[in-house]
Amino acid sequence: MAKLLKIQTSIFQNDGQSSLLADQFVKNWQARNPDGQVTSRDLAAEPVPHLDLARFQSFITPAEERTAEQKAVVSYSDALIEEIAAADVLVLGIPMYNFSVPSTLRAYFDHIARVGVTFQYTPEGPEGLLKGKKAVVFITRGGYYGEDHAQTAFVRQFLGFIGIADVEFVHAEGLAVGDEARDKALSAAQERIAQLV
Ligand SMILES: Cc1cc2nc3c(=O)[nH]c(=O)nc-3n(C[C@H](O)[C@H](O)[C@H](O)COP(=O)(O)O)c2cc1C
Repeated sequence: MAKLLKIQTSIFQNDGQSSLLADQFVKNWQARNPDGQVTSRDLAAEPVPHLDLARFQSFITPAEERTAEQKAVVSYSDALIEEIAAADVLVLGIPMYNFSVPSTLRAYFDHIARVGVTFQYTPEGPEGLLKGKKAVVFITRGGYYGEDHAQTAFVRQFLGFIGIADVEFVHAEGLAVGDEARDKALSAAQERIAQLV
């Protein structure tokens, strides 16, 4: 049974433009995969805590030396990793906030980048351990920055680092420019979705 994990990050939650595009993709995917299993995570509704020193130290402390508090921190991160590791398809809804991804996504990434778990260092360089997945990323922006912007590059680099190299990006830009620009961008994104599934 195919499994899909949808992660939305808009502060508008289900009403965010990025969430709506991600939902449209998921709906089409479900129509094609009637037995497929969908799991949803809303990082605005349920934010992942920021990575602080205590949390990072919990990750790097050998398992047998962890305190009860550190074990709880690691279990939380392990659960996030198990969720993404179980997925065949990852769908991300990501608005541009202040030229970057929402800070909630950054905090989530900090919890799933774990040496020896989601990546490892080899003599040839880092190797991502979450292999064999496909990701579809919906990026929404008020203005126009292009598909090569650092926001997109960061998401591509992070996913690649943990082993997810097969990534499709769908950008809907100019959503704050005016009704005409917004409708055009959203229609183009809908067309891409129809082609993707
Ligand atoms: C806090 C905040 C910061 C934003 N920063 C940017 C920005 O730096 N560049 C941009 O093009 N749009 C920016 N926008 C506009 C959003 O990217 C745009 O409205 C997008 O459609 C939001 O997606 P969402 O509805 O999924 O949240 C910002 C919006 C908010 C609420």
